[in-house]
Amino acid sequence: MRDAILTYDGKEYRLPVVTGSEGEQALDISALRKQSGAICFDPGYVNTGACTSAITFLDGEKGILRYRGYPIEELAAHSSFLEVAYLLIYGELPKAAEFAAWSDSIRRHSMVHEKMRRFYDALPKEAHPMAVCSAAIGALSTFYQDSLDPRDPQQVMVSIHRLLAKMPTIAAYSYKTSIGQPRLYPKNNLDYASGYLRMMFGTPCEDYEVNPVVAKALDTLWILHADHEQNCSTSTVRLVGSSLANLFASVSAGIFALWGPLHGGANQKVIEMLQRISAGGESGKQFLERVKRQEEGVRLMGFGHRVYKNFDPRARIIKKACFEVLEQLHVQSRLLDVAIELEEQALADPYFVERKLYPNVDFYSGIIYQAIGIPVNMFTVMFAIGRLPGWIAQWVELQADPTFKIGRPRQIYTGAGQRAYVGLADRD
Ligand code: CMC
Repeated sequence: MRDAILTYDGKEYRLPVVTGSEGEQALDISALRKQSGAICFDPGYVNTGACTSAITFLDGEKGILRYRGYPIEELAAHSSFLEVAYLLIYGELPKAAEFAAWSDSIRRHSMVHEKMRRFYDALPKEAHPMAVCSAAIGALSTFYQDSLDPRDPQQVMVSIHRLLAKMPTIAAYSYKTSIGQPRLYPKNNLDYASGYLRMMFGTPCEDYEVNPVVAKALDTLWILHADHEQNCSTSTVRLVGSSLANLFASVSAGIFALWGPLHGGANQKVIEMLQRISAGGESGKQFLERVKRQEEGVRLMGFGHRVYKNFDPRARIIKKACFEVLEQLHVQSRLLDVAIELEEQALADPYFVERKLYPNVDFYSGIIYQAIGIPVNMFTVMFAIGRLPGWIAQWVELQADPTFKIGRPRQIYTGAGQRAYVGLADRD
């Protein structure tokens, strides 16, 4: 591919074309400022590629999502979350012995330090679990100061195992603390999802029986959330990691980025929206009218995506899973009826069609979470558990990138010109 030519201020600049393995193209402007003095302006990074990556391929026009080349549909149907985590982090599906060693190690690192268990008591009972989880992951770094060096492969490997293994424990403890129940020790003979469900819903008073339908549903949801290339939280993890901050610090920041309602926090907002409509305050049609009038803060949550402009393949899988899980658990959901009605109306409405707005991963996931008993304020934590392998894989890839540089966007200053300081007494 020939270089692109940019003409600016009477001069020509050659911009090399970078081509990805699926034919995606970018104009390399990395030397532009040095050569021309100008920078590129791209609010929201809508057109900006910040890295090359071999982890996840996404084609928003065709609705394609692949982890390390494997279509998301196949992984959701045949794989397990821990296997997908291995795939994302190490690049290949594990062989049987590799998977046995991997899952054994993840099971065995699930306990947290006793002092860490008490850490939760210092936080208010009504704290949002996302804030608690981010704080807890940050705090984990204080217990593992022997393994924080991002440039030491052995230390990074130990941190990866610890993080993945302890995440369900940390998440379940944030919930248990909020309802005033004892925090259970993990049981290492259970699989990842079952172990989490037991710590979430079990008590020391009686044995907790894991429903395999529920464990499978959770595992599938986590696979679907496991990576999504350079989204807001992943870019946050990379940006923080680019200062050579350790993996715990970078992931802690990523959890906070995910919490926002335009990102992972949308799953909580979707269910709250459906609940309001279902409670009869206003009809779906009336609500959509307010969305279309673009009233302050009113959006059809769980709809639209920066990259998907046709359909979100994850949403298709989740919608199907939603019907299956509700049927298997014999759950009737009024919220599912409302969601279907909203989706049908929106997809037939020019406002949404013209803007290419479709259901995203968050539109139906909350209905499954609700059916399997996950409380609403834990929905985004479920997303965080699922996204953890992706954050780790992207952080590891960044550290090994031969073009590694600290992330540091530029700006166009629009403030006041130079002015002289005026003393307090002289200001009118
Ligand atoms: N409801 C109503 N209008 C919308 C919506 C929506 N959900 N999403 C976008 N629009 C409109 C928006 O008002 C704008 O209209 P106009 O051109 O008239 O100003 C147009 O569509 C383009 O929107 P945008 O905000 O410029 O698009 P974006 O790519 O910056 O935003 C988004 C993507 C996901 C933040 C946005 O679609 C949104 O806010 N969706 C609702 C929140 C949500 O469901 N987030 C979860 C995303 S998927 C999971 C994840 O990755 O975290």
